[in-house]
Amino acid sequence: MQETQKKINTNGTENTKTFRKDDQICDMFNNISARYDFLNKILSFGIDCRWRKKLVRELKPYKPKQVLDVATGTGNLALRIAKIKPQTIIAVDVSEQMLRLGKEKIKKRKLDKLIKFKLASCDELPFDNESFDTVAIAFGVRNFEDPLKAMKEVYRVTENDGVVMILEFGIPKNPVVRIPFLIYFTKILPIIGGLLSGKKYAYSYLTTSVKKFPFGKDFVEILDKAGFVDTAFKKCTFGVTYLYIARKNSNYC
Ligand SMILES: C[S@@+](CC[C@H](N)C(=O)[O-])C[C@H]1O[C@@H](n2cnc3c(N)ncnc32)[C@H](O)[C@@H]1O
Repeated sequence: MQETQKKINTNGTENTKTFRKDDQICDMFNNISARYDFLNKILSFGIDCRWRKKLVRELKPYKPKQVLDVATGTGNLALRIAKIKPQTIIAVDVSEQMLRLGKEKIKKRKLDKLIKFKLASCDELPFDNESFDTVAIAFGVRNFEDPLKAMKEVYRVTENDGVVMILEFGIPKNPVVRIPFLIYFTKILPIIGGLLSGKKYAYSYLTTSVKKFPFGKDFVEILDKAGFVDTAFKKCTFGVTYLYIARKNSNYC
């Protein structure tokens, strides 16, 4: 895994010790875990649930059986996928605190036999080749150190003819939507997120990571390079979020 030289501390100072980006991301999600679900709802005006619902609506016709939810966080997508009754859902994440909250949620809903959580990074998934007919990721990929490497790993664990569905933020192209979106996303959201979580850096990171992320055709290119076929995307909410759909074809090498 690539190493970075500087760590930006929560007080804005730089730490010159070497560290892994994964570790910094993991610390950040551990630190905001307690307020993650609450802030998601507030900052997205509740639309985040609709985006996950859309993914599940698109997934349902594939009749998923063995599902992997990567970067599950507190298990929001896994819980949504549980509604279409696959046989198993394995949900992985690098943040222990996010997973701890996820486990509490599924226990309350008595879904702990269906959904199993595991601490793991998308860089190195602890599963055999072709273990899942479905892999889903919601708002995880922009956090990965090396998205292409991670998508190759997703490809490896996907069965031939399996399907991969990925939700991630984009930036609307239409100026009528783009300008108000950027004002909200870069100026207002980091302030509200910072105030309500007490972790301003985490919500500034959200803005920066979305701006840097190669969305739309650029991310489709990454999926293609990883080996997927029939790659496509659908815009949600004018392109604030993109849903990527890809297949692993048995005849493709
Ligand atoms: C924005 S949250 C999304 C959580 C959840 N999927 C949802 O829709 O609410 C991003 C999650 O990605 C996780 N993450 C970041 N890097 C990861 C990696 N390399 N492998 C697995 N999970 C990772 C973080 O710990 C965090 O829980």
